[in-house]
Amino acid sequence: MAYPLRIEGESIALRDFTLDDVDDTLKVYGDDRVTHWLSFDSRDRGQIQAMFEGIIARSHEQPRTEYSLAVVAPPSDRVIGTVRIGLTGVKAAKLGVAIAASEWGKGYATDAARTMIDFAFRELDLHRITAAIGPENEASIKLIKNLGFTREGLLRDHVFTNGGWRDSALFSILVDDRTE
Ligand SMILES: CC(C)(COP(=O)(O)OP(=O)(O)OC[C@H]1O[C@@H](n2cnc3c(N)ncnc32)[C@H](O)[C@@H]1OP(=O)(O)O)[C@@H](O)C(=O)NCCC(=O)NCCS
Repeated sequence: MAYPLRIEGESIALRDFTLDDVDDTLKVYGDDRVTHWLSFDSRDRGQIQAMFEGIIARSHEQPRTEYSLAVVAPPSDRVIGTVRIGLTGVKAAKLGVAIAASEWGKGYATDAARTMIDFAFRELDLHRITAAIGPENEASIKLIKNLGFTREGLLRDHVFTNGGWRDSALFSILVDDRTE
């Protein structure tokens, strides 16, 4: 797989991060409105820089088992969100997506997640993708159901975030579930 990776969606593109993306990504991972729903608390600039160093190092590993990509809305190349799949188990991966609050409601998460799922099934030959979502995260549950995911059950005390344990609803999509 080529590096840096770039995958075109309909209105967005996904691409590998660079260290120049730290400030724009602060609008995603440094904003409590976004991280309230994630498995970790808001991060400051230094923490995001350290996170990027790890992401960039792992993106060069062979075989590559993590695709943690920037979401951009061309012609702009600035980060408006993030989408990640981490390979785990047999032909399986976990999906996560986050969009800067100023850009919510424009269809970007749907486009980014769909583009990543297509890439994972077509190019990475995966069989199963899961998403673990806070049971009250209505936007994310709507998004994932629209994409054809099925609810499997509840992961009890799955993450420690915002000062307490939180359950996650587990959703999955199999390669054979896709209708497109
Ligand atoms: C969840 C999230 C990624 C959605 O991003 P987005 O770009 O606004 O999503 P889209 O515009 O593609 O909309 C996806 C669906 O969610 C719905 N939706 C968006 N915001 C909503 C809200 N506050 N309440 C209910 N539904 C909502 C949209 O209407 C759309 O469904 P529709 O096409 O049937 O109308 C974004 O809200 C976010 O970053 N949240 C915080 C992080 C997070 O929860 N990540 C997911 C954890 S796995």
